[in-house]
Amino acid sequence: MQFKVLSVVGTRPNFIKIAPLVKETKKRKEIRHVLVHTGQHYDKAMSKLFFDDLEIPKPDVNLGVGSSSDVTQTAKIMMKFEKVLMKEKPNLVIVVGDVNSTFAAAITARKCGIKVAHVESGLRSFDLSMPEETNRILTDHISDFLFTTEESANKNLINEGIDKNNIYFVGNVMIDTLLKHKEKAQKSPILKKLNLKKGNYAALTLHRPSNVDDEDSLKYILSILDAIQRKIKIIFPMHPRTLKNIKKFNLFQNLKNQKNLIITEPLGYLDFLSLMSNSKFIMTDSGGIQEETTVLGIPCITLRNNTERPVTVEQGTNLLVSTDKSKIIQTANKIINGIDVKGKIPKLWDGKAAERIVNILVSRLG
Ligand code: UD1
Ligand code: UDP
Repeated sequence: MQFKVLSVVGTRPNFIKIAPLVKETKKRKEIRHVLVHTGQHYDKAMSKLFFDDLEIPKPDVNLGVGSSSDVTQTAKIMMKFEKVLMKEKPNLVIVVGDVNSTFAAAITARKCGIKVAHVESGLRSFDLSMPEETNRILTDHISDFLFTTEESANKNLINEGIDKNNIYFVGNVMIDTLLKHKEKAQKSPILKKLNLKKGNYAALTLHRPSNVDDEDSLKYILSILDAIQRKIKIIFPMHPRTLKNIKKFNLFQNLKNQKNLIITEPLGYLDFLSLMSNSKFIMTDSGGIQEETTVLGIPCITLRNNTERPVTVEQGTNLLVSTDKSKIIQTANKIINGIDVKGKIPKLWDGKAAERIVNILVSRLG
């Protein structure tokens, strides 16, 4: 029997996660697929570039919600998405990750009586000050299919009383995308463009509200970078949230004084993958990058006090060193001086997660 699936994306990491799922659904004659973009991210460098690099078809619907407070953004998505659901009447809504678009779409589908599949379910930082943690918990508790990436997620869901028959340990769709594009990324001109050589620079991303929304926290992180850029060139593709705050707090001069800290626009997927793959190490507060560096075998200094992705620390190359200045500088120095950071690839991060997900959906709904 044919069934209709509607997938929802809104932000940069969502596009990367949905790409292999869209491809798999297109292969199956049992599935009619509709793609909805909420418009949470809208700059070319945060949205269109990823559709181009990853050959994701143009969304069938764009809700165009744009930026606002977390509450307003969630509410706007719900109101606009309800209308789409009334028109499209899908059998299932797929949401990925932990952003406002994820939760807003899931709760709307649930309230309209439509089944929900959550991809990347069960991750927990146990830190409710992160907006994503609320999105994760609430989305999981209203989903019918919970697709997980690592064993810790299965445990978290069971501990929260979720029916184990609804939990499917399938692997990691973000890694499906990475493995598919790794070779192609090596053709990216980004190293040449930025005058870099393999292993002679570090890459940095920063966008968590806890690091960039508060003036003192942001200044503190910049002071850490200042110390590290004296030892190694740092490439910093700057997230728009961070750019907004650097402007708001008048910190551009501080950055200009750091001669070895190179700021760029946010990069497209292939350029950023090339930048990561050829770097000495990464510093980040991103969720997805902790996973990607584990698969690439690149040391990752995570500029946070916790992670919802413990497998990257236990098995991978993720060094969760907190946001303490001396610890971060010490760790960076050790890597610059050549300590080996070794890891292994977590179970089922093999490029086949999307195929497993779609097989399960077809067997349960088809
Ligand atoms: C969102 C997610 C976060 C995810 C990140 C991925 C939530 C609560 N947060 O954070 O989990 O890690 O995306 O990158 O959903 N802006 C632009 N252009 C854009 C998009 C945003 O200028 O295309 C600016 C706006 O000033 C906006 C700010 O960035 O207010 C923050 O954007 P928003 O989508 O609210 O949160 P992110 O920090 O991007
Ligand atoms: N990324 C990218 N260009 C950049 C920075 C990140 O393509 O300039 C990719 C990165 O490789 C990963 C994803 O964006 O696949 C992570 O997104 P982000 O850090 O914005 O969100 P999070 O994972 O923290 O939710």
